Amino acid sequence: MRILRLKCLGLLFFALCPFYFCCAQNKTIDQKVDSVLGLMTLDEKVGQMNQYNGDWAATGPITKDGDKQDQIRKGMIGSMLNVTGVAHTRTLQEIAMQSRLKIPLLFGQDVIHGYRTIFPVPLGEAASWDIESITGAARIAAIEASAAGIHWTFAPMVDIARDPRWGRIMEGAGEDPYLGSLIAAARVKGFQGKGLGNTDAVMACAKHFAAYGAAVGGRDYNSVDMSLRQLHEIYLPPFKAAAEAGVATFMNSFNDLNGIPATANSYLQRDILKKQWNFKGFVVSDWGSVGEMIQHGFVKDNYEAAMAAAIAGSDMDMESRSYIQNLSKLVKEGKVKMTVIDDAVKRILKKKFEMGLFDDPFRFCDTARERLQWNNAEHLAAAKDIAVKSIVLLKNSVPKAGTKQILPLSKTTKTIALIGPLAKAKSDNLGFWSYDWPDDSIRIVSLWDGIQKKLAPGSTMLYAKGCGINDTSRAGFAEAIEAAKNADIVIMSVGEARDMSGEAKSRSTINLPGVQEELVMAIQSTGKPVVVLISAGRPLIFNRIADQVPAILYTWWLGTKAGDAIGEVLFGDYNPSGKLPVSFPLTEGQIPIYYDHYNTGRPATSDSDKNYRSSYTDISIYPKFPFGYGLSYTSFNYSDIKLSHSSLKAGQQLKASVSVTNSGEYEGTETVQLYIRDMVASVVRPVKELKCFQKIRLKAGESKTVTFKISTDDLRFYNNDLKYDWEAGDFEIMIGSSSKDVKTAKVNWVR
Ligand code: BGC
Repeated sequence: MRILRLKCLGLLFFALCPFYFCCAQNKTIDQKVDSVLGLMTLDEKVGQMNQYNGDWAATGPITKDGDKQDQIRKGMIGSMLNVTGVAHTRTLQEIAMQSRLKIPLLFGQDVIHGYRTIFPVPLGEAASWDIESITGAARIAAIEASAAGIHWTFAPMVDIARDPRWGRIMEGAGEDPYLGSLIAAARVKGFQGKGLGNTDAVMACAKHFAAYGAAVGGRDYNSVDMSLRQLHEIYLPPFKAAAEAGVATFMNSFNDLNGIPATANSYLQRDILKKQWNFKGFVVSDWGSVGEMIQHGFVKDNYEAAMAAAIAGSDMDMESRSYIQNLSKLVKEGKVKMTVIDDAVKRILKKKFEMGLFDDPFRFCDTARERLQWNNAEHLAAAKDIAVKSIVLLKNSVPKAGTKQILPLSKTTKTIALIGPLAKAKSDNLGFWSYDWPDDSIRIVSLWDGIQKKLAPGSTMLYAKGCGINDTSRAGFAEAIEAAKNADIVIMSVGEARDMSGEAKSRSTINLPGVQEELVMAIQSTGKPVVVLISAGRPLIFNRIADQVPAILYTWWLGTKAGDAIGEVLFGDYNPSGKLPVSFPLTEGQIPIYYDHYNTGRPATSDSDKNYRSSYTDISIYPKFPFGYGLSYTSFNYSDIKLSHSSLKAGQQLKASVSVTNSGEYEGTETVQLYIRDMVASVVRPVKELKCFQKIRLKAGESKTVTFKISTDDLRFYNNDLKYDWEAGDFEIMIGSSSKDVKTAKVNWVR
């Protein structure tokens, strides 16, 4: 390898001759960028702003055109996506080195929740509320992806999502801007590691800028219409957090925002991102989103599309070909200023320099390193670790009066029946936005395998599929019922297939697909103790199960080690600690439902106080499971809140404490959540907002005091003039184990 690298550098020396000397001296990256820019023709500049899909895989509508390799050679392409593996990336990079200026290509890829080792889907990871583990998962994804020649991941997706009908809810961190911001920054730090330039760091990309998660009706690609205040308060904070964490790139989004497509939205890209936030990286369009402005009815053709997008600050065109075909002409005709082009190209070149690609375009093309990351035991262990932390215990009641809670199960249970269409699933465990590898059938741990590993010798497992994931046939019910009858405990594995949540996977009803719920109810009526495991990319609705089955674990799509992780939790080797990062609705009719809503002038205070109140007459005012909710095998008791002050002045800090006691039989982890309500303000404020949380671990019987320090920074909000400030007055401080289960205290703050 060493020899190879030297050879590459040797070649480069001569190849880069035109600007080698200016680069080699002690110049800043900005000066080096300027030197390269000075050598470029207009067409070569536009080439840098052009990104094409490779010819092996596609994550959007494919345009078959021309010889891409020839276009790389002509300097017409700055970046490729969906080209992975050292061999492929090297081949194309070698061609880029035949271009006049030998500007290296950037290889981008959707490494959303792992590359070779697949972690839980992001919404699942968010349920861990474990920022360190989330950072760690992104770090590993970057190590593996960078070893496979990838320079850039199109992640993290930081869209706030409050509509589980939207399939892409699985890619984000859920409904809350505070939790979403922490996780956005964590993922950026994980991907970018010790900084661009290290060969195990990939450029992160905060997407989709902006408000894509608020698509009307949860229908993918749909329009978004919202007040600027809501935009700033709810949807932008995770993007801002990503920018502050140093994210290298942004991706814009497919939606229009208040009538202007995000791709041509200068308010978003120029005013907020590049001016207010002083973002120095570059913005890539979403797949074809520049050209799609024609369908939006915003521009007539690709010529106008390229003009609108470039002027609005979209620096790179992914796959629409609008830039490559029109930008040079637009500049020559005076429609787009050269300064716009130069600014975009400088941003792109700067990242290529920071990645070290001008020094060595092949520095991510190391076959030995790629091989080393192929089966990394530490990575697999980390995948299991975060998978166990992502599982949410929704219910664990006693199946019959006088008996114990079902979970955790005993490893010496004599006969366990494992029933359901996902019981032996492998690739479905990975979820959307994951890669298929030839050895998946060996590497991915199914639930069946995971449980079997835990059981003591002498225990037996029975299996019945019962039904397909999305079938209408009940032909397998009888066999499943028979298996249940012959077992002491039944574990049921139901949920969504891997491609049921994700891009373009919006669903109008979000029940368990097919006849799965019926199957569960048929097994439940055998009278056997039943545990239901639900594996999905989004919150589903399963009310009959929730009401009648005694034990339910929500297991999302947990990744490569899914079966092992679930085994740990089922048998009590790990006491579940996940908390929902998103509200689970009772029916689709409640959507959008989120915990930090306004009070309204006629709030319904309970299900028996709904008349002439803001509610539906036919359903509860509550979600099925609230934001922040998640049980443990043990129980935690909260004391009342103790406040350091009842009244404070600006600049003073409030300390709010509770004592939390583990009053159950198992050691466990609790996520103690702090919410605040601003009682009266110049614009109405939510009934509560998450402001902080702390994870604590308590032995059975142990108590700990948890203290939150609160300052007026925590009270800030966007007022009617979009000024981010706090206002004096009364505040409610709430601390508890979910957004619904809190202790409350009152405090007053004066200026
Ligand atoms: C998605 C992006 C993704 C891109 C490239 C688009 O369809 O919206 O999130 O990064 O494709 O795969």
